[in-house]
Amino acid sequence: MAEQELIPIYIMNKQYLVPPTLTIMKALEYAGYKLIRGVGCRAGFCGACATVYRTADDYRLKIGLACATMVEPEMYLAQIPFFPAPRAQYHLEELKPDMSALLKTYPEVLRCLSCGTCTKVCPQDIDVRDYMADAMKGNIAAVADKSFDCIMCGLCAARCPAEEKQYQIAILCRRLYGKYLAPRAEHLHKRVQEIMDGKHDAELIRLKSMSKDELKKAYYERDIEPE
Ligand code: SF4
Ligand code: SF4
Ligand code: FES
Repeated sequence: MAEQELIPIYIMNKQYLVPPTLTIMKALEYAGYKLIRGVGCRAGFCGACATVYRTADDYRLKIGLACATMVEPEMYLAQIPFFPAPRAQYHLEELKPDMSALLKTYPEVLRCLSCGTCTKVCPQDIDVRDYMADAMKGNIAAVADKSFDCIMCGLCAARCPAEEKQYQIAILCRRLYGKYLAPRAEHLHKRVQEIMDGKHDAELIRLKSMSKDELKKAYYERDIEPE
């Protein structure tokens, strides 16, 4: 590509000329960076590529996922491949799905100022302030529901003036919800019990004795429930 078609961006304060059609992640690689940390799915799902940047026309610090944000001329950027927000040590079996669990593991939850900075930076458009308000009330189910799309990128914690670890609090709530509050899948429980009782042992022995081709044939000819 001719040099005049490239745009200047600044990666950790050093200027590079890159094509304007690239995401930040591709521009980093175009500029010669070999990404080892700060990269994962390359599709906006894993949260590994949190990036902070400023653009020429705006004083505000902006955030984005490097794999899903396009470069802009005069963009100043740095990746945050890891943010120090250690998870509390706990055993779910020793916790109850209420406020006591949060006070035991993350007592700082009550320091939230409801400022909303976390909501502004979340690349998943999660209302982080809202689920933190639920966390302060011990509403585990609401936190689990509202934080469901969290990808653990760490950007909310990076900007929080109250030093919260919002996403660690949220994942604890989702775990508590899954263990104690979510409706039981009775059919799954029944099927596991059947397996434990040996109901399918003969069938498993038969399957294990089949060749790869026989298995494939059986797989494609299996009964499928109508949609
Ligand atoms: S940024 Fe921190 S203090 Fe502000 S609402 Fe979010 S969790 Fe609370
Ligand atoms: S809640 Fe926090 S860690 Fe989760 S996606 Fe939003 S900013 Fe990232
Ligand atoms: S690499 Fe997974 S979200 Fe960007």
